[in-house]
Amino acid sequence: MKTKWSILLLFMGIPCMTSAWNYPVFGTSNVLDLPALLVQHANGDQTLALYTAAVETDTAAQYTDKVYVLRDSLYPVEVRLCYRSYTAYAMWEMWMEISHQEKKPILLKRFDSGHFTIPQGNVWMTHFHGDWAAEGTPTESKLERGTISIQNTDGTRNAHVDAPSVVFALDGPLEEYHGRTVAATLCWSGNYELRCNTTNDGQHHFYAGISPQASEYVLSPKETFITPHLAVAYSESGMNECSRIFHRWARETGRINHPSMPRPILLNSWEGIYFDITEERMIAMIDDIADMGGELFVMDDGWFGGKYARNTDNAALGDWKVDTRKLPNGLQPLIDHAHARGIRFGIWIEPEFTNTLSELFEQHPDWVLRVHGRKLRLGRGDTQLVLDMTNPKVQDFVFNIVDNLITTYPDIAYIKWDANTSLENYGSPYLPKDKQSNLYIAYHQGLQKTLQRIRAKYPDVIIQNCASGGGRANYGLMPYFDEMWVSDNNDALQRLFIWWTASYFFPANTLAQHVGGSPYHMTGRNLPIKFRCDVAMFGRMGLELNSRHMSQDEQVQCAQAIQDYKQIRPLVQQGNLYRLVSPYADKHTMSLMFVNDQQTEAVLYGFRTDFLKQQYIEKVRLKGLDADKTYRLEELDVVGKKRAPIVLSGKTLMEEGIDLPLYSDFASVVYKISIEK
Ligand code: GLA
Repeated sequence: MKTKWSILLLFMGIPCMTSAWNYPVFGTSNVLDLPALLVQHANGDQTLALYTAAVETDTAAQYTDKVYVLRDSLYPVEVRLCYRSYTAYAMWEMWMEISHQEKKPILLKRFDSGHFTIPQGNVWMTHFHGDWAAEGTPTESKLERGTISIQNTDGTRNAHVDAPSVVFALDGPLEEYHGRTVAATLCWSGNYELRCNTTNDGQHHFYAGISPQASEYVLSPKETFITPHLAVAYSESGMNECSRIFHRWARETGRINHPSMPRPILLNSWEGIYFDITEERMIAMIDDIADMGGELFVMDDGWFGGKYARNTDNAALGDWKVDTRKLPNGLQPLIDHAHARGIRFGIWIEPEFTNTLSELFEQHPDWVLRVHGRKLRLGRGDTQLVLDMTNPKVQDFVFNIVDNLITTYPDIAYIKWDANTSLENYGSPYLPKDKQSNLYIAYHQGLQKTLQRIRAKYPDVIIQNCASGGGRANYGLMPYFDEMWVSDNNDALQRLFIWWTASYFFPANTLAQHVGGSPYHMTGRNLPIKFRCDVAMFGRMGLELNSRHMSQDEQVQCAQAIQDYKQIRPLVQQGNLYRLVSPYADKHTMSLMFVNDQQTEAVLYGFRTDFLKQQYIEKVRLKGLDADKTYRLEELDVVGKKRAPIVLSGKTLMEEGIDLPLYSDFASVVYKISIEK
């Protein structure tokens, strides 16, 4: 059995206990290497020549940390290269800490979190590009000589255009269950750059860190700059094992909030009624979700505003008081009604932003990011602006939005925290002139500080990470959140694709999936209600449609789905995920399953994605079961007559597989699997 450190050494060129560190530094390394670290000293010199002053090892319950303490031979600069190796699974984190005692600030011009080398071979790299409503599209190519740069420069969000994650398949194109695989994600919510430089000798040098573009960091004497962590999982049997390592790591090491708390089933008001909030409509929606067996109601955008009403997306962000034109009696009657119906109450906010049409902007024009002397560039609604999160007063303001809401309404159980505009006005009225280039980073440091305060005071509230959908799908922010809104594209067919790659790195209890309307407003597609429910049942289940417009059949099917989801919730939210048939594989189906640790219970899903191109679909071979046990497969989410249960051995299910009964476009099936008594 190889030790974790020796796997790193063998496949990734990261130091083992005895070898040297692997982190190219400008001024020390071969000039042909791309540097991971480039520093300009106060006197203008741009070189570093680091030597190992000490190696520290520290062992905790879950991991061992190894830190190379490096010092410059000429300047009082110290760099700590930190590597964390987990004991129970093939997972590492790496990061860098830099400090100095020069008389004046130094400039960090490149400061990657980590670097590793993958040896020559048939190596393929996958990254996840996309856009709003099309997050996480996998793009794979064989690594050839030259440099690939994956980056995101949105400023406030970092997962729409390209996510801060890559996967290397070392033995040919990426597969779920075969091949040496390295999956890496940068735990950061701001701009980043992931570089892969394949040198002439065929070695692949991977670098990951905060993007230095317009973001050179001015480091004051005695200040320590700590980079975000780069998290890396390794498997000798494909992507699926890497995902399961990531899921376990996220749950066991505080990378998500409330890792084992069952997530409530909810109805969100947004796609049902948008800004048209009234007390009557909210009460009706609360009643509907209660009648269908749900557990929480979320009042989305549109509930606030004073001088400016929030009737569309162009006004009132920052004016976080209840709009009494829409809710004359305030929030309390809604919360009370929800409680009377056994439903918890949640609310939408977008705290880091304002609009030019807002009282906040009128009172504090210096609280927004802006460039002195230039016209403001405006975001969503042609009025949206980003608050200056570097400013402690703004941080207090943002903290107080949550604090006021929860102290006034202690029964608020859930917050949807949104972020709908990029950082386009590159200037902070708060930061001093000589630290303006710290803005991209200082923004996210300010945000994290604020979220830490919120979490310290309100550990129990459930908070959803939403950023125009999945714009903040990163482990920089997830420690403060319970779940994410995976995409604004809630068409259930599209969701099969978006969810597929989201699950590469994030466990299913963090991936919110909602039953949407049909035809779906964005795609115009009509999908059967059972298909829409079955898709919602493999994430954190919810509904997002106008419950008043649902037909009787739709309501009955949703109630059935909610009832059945409660049975399988521990499996979905805590079980081991096995992706079986990829929607990207053009096999006309998508299939996945979750299995418990004891291999006694599982849930299997199958979806027909198209019928026209091929009527016959391949058998699906299950995974993760015990070959020697006999299992019983019973259909879930069926209104009316169910098919007869299937009883087969784990061996047959996994080796021969089963035919999924998907005989028409958008047919779907969910099987609960248990041990046959
Ligand atoms: C963003 C979110 C949506 C919704 C709207 C409200 O687009 O992603 O889910 O909350 O904002 O304006």
